[in-house]
Amino acid sequence: MRADRDYYGTPMEKSVKKIVVVGAGTMGSGIALTAAQSGIHAVQVDLAQSQLEKARGYHTKQLGRLVEKQKISADDAKSVAARIVYSTDFSSARDADCVVEAASENPEVKKKLFKSFVETFDAETILATNTSSISITDIATVTGSRATHVIGMHFFNPVPVMKLVEVIRGLATSDETVARSLDLARAMGKTPVPANDRAGFVSNRVLMPLINEAFFAWMEGVARPEDIDQIMMLGCNFPMGPLRLADFIGLDVCHDIMMVLYRELGDAKFFPCPKLRQLMTAGRLGDKSGCGVFDYPAKA
Ligand code: 3HC
Repeated sequence: MRADRDYYGTPMEKSVKKIVVVGAGTMGSGIALTAAQSGIHAVQVDLAQSQLEKARGYHTKQLGRLVEKQKISADDAKSVAARIVYSTDFSSARDADCVVEAASENPEVKKKLFKSFVETFDAETILATNTSSISITDIATVTGSRATHVIGMHFFNPVPVMKLVEVIRGLATSDETVARSLDLARAMGKTPVPANDRAGFVSNRVLMPLINEAFFAWMEGVARPEDIDQIMMLGCNFPMGPLRLADFIGLDVCHDIMMVLYRELGDAKFFPCPKLRQLMTAGRLGDKSGCGVFDYPAKA
């Protein structure tokens, strides 16, 4: 991998040198890895040391796989790993070009973080959120005059593979912040596509009713879950069926996004199917808990 090229071999924009990624879950660890693979220094932050260790393990495993497949050299893998720093605190990285918040999908959690971002980061730092459904304008209300620097950068799972970043401007987001965020997405080898600040933006407003309807079809006995997925994979060319995808995303995450859509758009079609709610109540959250719609004994 050349230093002036990103992971995909595209010439890199030089405007972004360092990002902070807050939250070391599936999305946050994927964002930090993709940044580092693109030559950007990444500070991976989480309050829980155990979560940081998990993220480090994921990075090591993914880089090892790339070396095994001869997609990158062992030296390049070492350089990528060296570009990621793990920390329980973001105050030492105040000069970052951008902070990407990838914490849990809860408006109060996000607002608390954005308040501390304003106190911590330089005036020019972009304050981005990876929210999948919450209003950017609402999150920006706690940032005062820095609302100009708040933007939605919605990545997709698995981040190193999926090409899209849905870019959402809030009411006060400046043109410069949008331009710099587009540069960052491109520097990470992604294709940024704009969407307006309505609950769920485009991706989840379209995807979640599809997933929900698959749960209803299952609950009503239209077909077995594996057959619902087969039908959508073979008939519509989906890489994963909607029920498998729900497990992959996390049933709790799907539920939370549907509730935001339901509350904000006021349409009963977004209300989570009782079958989804039942599995979630039983702790069957999908891949991460070793079972959801389907069982994943190897991941348990
Ligand atoms: N991290 C990094 N790379 C990964 C990965 C991960 N977690 N999982 C798979 N990959 C890579 C593999 O290494 C492999 O790379 P290679 O082609 O260079 O060898 C490639 O992806 C394909 O992987 P596999 O051969 O193991 O498996 P599949 O061909 O079945 O692909 C998949 C796996 C890419 C996950 C594919 O099934 C897929 O695209 N599924 C749909 C994913 C999707 O829809 N994501 C969006 C979810 S919605 C969302 O994120 C928004 C949020 O707000 C809810």
